[in-house]
Amino acid sequence: MDYKNIILNKYSVRDYKEKKVDAKIIKELSQYANTCPKLVDDIEMDIRIMDNDVVYRQLDGFAGYHGILINAPHYIILLSENKEHYLENAGYVGESISMKASELGVDSCWITFTSSEKVIHRLNIVTNKEVVGILTIGYGKKKAPITLGALKTGDNYSQADMRKKESSQSKVLPLQEMVYIDKWGEGADVNTLLERALYEPMDCVRKAPSTMNRQPWRFLIDGGKIVLLMRKDNDVSEYEERIDAGIAMLYFEDVIGQTLCKIQWELGPVDNIYGIPDEYVIVASCEA
Ligand SMILES: Cc1cc2nc3c(=O)[nH]c(=O)nc-3n(C[C@H](O)[C@H](O)[C@H](O)COP(=O)(O)O)c2cc1C
Repeated sequence: MDYKNIILNKYSVRDYKEKKVDAKIIKELSQYANTCPKLVDDIEMDIRIMDNDVVYRQLDGFAGYHGILINAPHYIILLSENKEHYLENAGYVGESISMKASELGVDSCWITFTSSEKVIHRLNIVTNKEVVGILTIGYGKKKAPITLGALKTGDNYSQADMRKKESSQSKVLPLQEMVYIDKWGEGADVNTLLERALYEPMDCVRKAPSTMNRQPWRFLIDGGKIVLLMRKDNDVSEYEERIDAGIAMLYFEDVIGQTLCKIQWELGPVDNIYGIPDEYVIVASCEA
């Protein structure tokens, strides 16, 4: 996949045509979903694509920001066994499927939820796994990207400032606020990132989807080591935090794999010798 290009053109779609996605494309997406690379190889998943008539009626009121479910022709339901890092893995796999959908001309959006049991019960799914992700898929009505502005996480979704994304740059974090060199607060300058061939991967991460567009990812560069940190926000659940982290790891890994070298994330904290403040969690590190 041409990840860079897909990321630059991709956005969350909330307004869908009624038109169903062609059965051949659904099949291809489903095959991809159940065989695509994972963040943690030995976590078993089961990914199903379900139609509007089964899902919308059952989950509206139970899934989506403030229980408001986006009305889409199909939904992807990600099921996973519960193992260490399974939620980060779900973010990584779910977003990988969303990128594949984009490549196939299909739009998508993540949907948050609070109870796996409730989703399983309401959708009448027979499984020994947990629901770890829900995404809409279909064809968006407008081609112009619509996105949520940077929201305070407590804002009401229905009052959200839905606005046209004038340019993908207008809503994203400045790189100096997202990437630090050697210690917390030492913002990276563009030239250093360019020299280290880290500019493109970092630039793509800041376009990643995140819960309520909170853009919680921060990176610390220590020599050849790159450490991923995620901001904890009071109104964001641990589930959402960990999905956001998995998505960021996918974006970084895919783009650096395309532009520089293959990396492998090591999940778990490193020593905080960098002055990282308490509201950030050290999630993973890699060598590049
Ligand atoms: C874990 C997760 C859950 C999300 N849940 C919802 C949701 O329930 N409803 C919704 O409209 N958008 C949802 N989104 C989409 C984000 O609001 C969106 O990614 C963010 O506003 C940035 O916009 P963009 O993806 O167009 O760049 C979710 C995103 C993530 C990563």
